[in-house]
Amino acid sequence: MTTRKGRVAPMDGGVVAKTPAVWRQASSTVVRHRDAGAGHRWLELEVPRGFALPAPGQFVQLLIEPPSPVLLPRPMSVASARRTPRGATLGFLYAAVGAGTRALAGLPSGASVTVLGPLGRGFPLEVEGTPVLVAGGRGVAPLLFAAEALRRAGRRCELLFGARDAAHLVALTEARRRIEGMGGRLHLATDDGSRGLRGTVVELLDRIAAHLPAPRVLHACGPHAMLAAVARWSMRQHTPAFLAMESVMACGTGVCRGCPLPRSEAARTRLSRHRDRIPSLMGSPEFAMCCTDGPVFAAAELDWNRIE
Ligand SMILES: Cc1cc2nc3c(=O)[nH]c(=O)nc-3n(C[C@H](O)[C@H](O)[C@H](O)COP(=O)(O)OP(=O)(O)OC[C@H]3O[C@@H](n4cnc5c(N)ncnc54)[C@H](O)[C@@H]3O)c2cc1C
Ligand code: FES
Repeated sequence: MTTRKGRVAPMDGGVVAKTPAVWRQASSTVVRHRDAGAGHRWLELEVPRGFALPAPGQFVQLLIEPPSPVLLPRPMSVASARRTPRGATLGFLYAAVGAGTRALAGLPSGASVTVLGPLGRGFPLEVEGTPVLVAGGRGVAPLLFAAEALRRAGRRCELLFGARDAAHLVALTEARRRIEGMGGRLHLATDDGSRGLRGTVVELLDRIAAHLPAPRVLHACGPHAMLAAVARWSMRQHTPAFLAMESVMACGTGVCRGCPLPRSEAARTRLSRHRDRIPSLMGSPEFAMCCTDGPVFAAAELDWNRIE
């Protein structure tokens, strides 16, 4: 088992994401695995005692045990986490898009999966204001967890959920259950108008933001183009926004330097003055590492014109 001290550092002018102190590698067992619609699956893994409970926005690396078609683990956001007498159950919502996730989709109950985590920095849900969760398609996964954490803390949030069509509003029942359980509100948008507003979730945000209780804090996850639009909107509106990013990853722990995201000019200027103080497993003044500096970033931290 590997254990490493986690680090907590400012994300945006002193905003600090909460991160459990340690990650470790452990063998987990598939306890539930079902279809979630539109090519998506809902997976629950039981991890042993001693595996730190992730925070919303954190991720784990899932390594399929041999024989497996893929060598490297696959990063996955945690969509739910609860303690059990034997350890904890972690839930995931994923799309089977390639060799790794298709192999994952074939695992029956009782199968073993090696889990490394919890990794990265989560959403700073403690930032004062109404949490407005903005989800695009399968990007709803970490926001389901955020909604659950807010509900447990006795807080309310607004969830804006968009997808290309009604079928791709995956885990909608789950989202509704969590939001209504806390007295929050669910707002929907689809590109084809088959459910909710016809248009993107960013158009929905633009349309209803003024009617949501102020001050508002955005927490978003979805395709990068959507996150770039949310980031630009938030900067125009002077609304804090935190975006859960993705990058193709190998190690997930800052070692391989394989998951760079370009920093904004402001972040580059700020960090180049403190180059010697950037921890070795994080990025450079030029590039952030998605796995250790993120995956959740404040809008002003990244250069959205250089992100694909
Ligand atoms: C921090 C983080 C959290 C994630 N959370 C989730 C989640 O909750 N649910 C989920 O379904 N997926 C999530 N992903 C994406 C998931 O890791 C990839 O879809 C997966 O690695 C693809 O592996 P594969 O072997 O099935 O596909 P591959 O054969 O490796 O690739 C298949 C296709 O997917 C693309 N792809 C691979 N990795 C990514 C990526 N990170 N982002 C976008 N496209 C990618 C490839 O370019 C290729 O077109 C997350 C990724 C990161 C970095
Ligand atoms: S995945 Fe290796 S440094 Fe981020």
